Amino acid sequence: CARKFFVGGNFKMNGSLAQIKGIVDGLNSADLNQNAEVVISPPALYLAYTKDLLKDGKNKNIEVAAQNVFNKGNGAFTGEISVSQLSDLGINWVILGHSERRQILGESDEFIASKTKAAIDGGLQVIWCCGEPLEIREAGTTTDYVTKQIAALAKVLSPEDWTKVVIAYEPIWAIGTGKVATTQQAQDTHKDLREWLAKNVSEKVANETRILYGGSVTDENSKELATQPDVDGFLVGGASLKPAFIKIVNSA
Ligand code: G3H
Repeated sequence: CARKFFVGGNFKMNGSLAQIKGIVDGLNSADLNQNAEVVISPPALYLAYTKDLLKDGKNKNIEVAAQNVFNKGNGAFTGEISVSQLSDLGINWVILGHSERRQILGESDEFIASKTKAAIDGGLQVIWCCGEPLEIREAGTTTDYVTKQIAALAKVLSPEDWTKVVIAYEPIWAIGTGKVATTQQAQDTHKDLREWLAKNVSEKVANETRILYGGSVTDENSKELATQPDVDGFLVGGASLKPAFIKIVNSA
């Protein structure tokens, strides 16, 4: 299939110089599946450091992602980072729409869509996240919930923009909880997202856009999840800080 297996490692607000060096040294010397695209995402402070450490490694297919970017050009926006600043450092990826930013920082569907558009217009690729809270899963309205999130994105993207997007489906109840979605739950929601894209964007975008699963992915459950036809890889949180990440990359 045209969709290259993709594994993202989201360090979230974790790590130190020493810990990140340890993680990157491990990746630099690992025998990684060369058919997988690997992107690691340290906190902004460590982006340049991480990028620099990776250049000595044997795996040239590892890229670095920021965990956020602003939707405006350089200017008076204290505390924010611009798309052009990321590009200046050779950072080609950014994670947007993570549920922690939606829930804890109050980011709306529309704000996330506008940051995604700004990132793509500035030449970045985006790991765009969606996912439902537990009460939505229990009410049986997950598809409505995640398709509303993706509809806000589709509203601002052109058909070509989708080549720069990787979708990460992350049920909130599975994030950092050790409670992974069942293989069937992941496959079903990924399929619903793909069908939504086929109907509302195009068949081409539906066939070519990668949909990752995120939420308590480990080297124990990744192999089975990766067998599903609509699971094109993972966005890994906690396990991306551990050697298990290498096994997850190699699980397809
Ligand atoms: O971005 C990653 C996800 O939030 C998953 O986190 O693997 O620690 O559950 P987790």
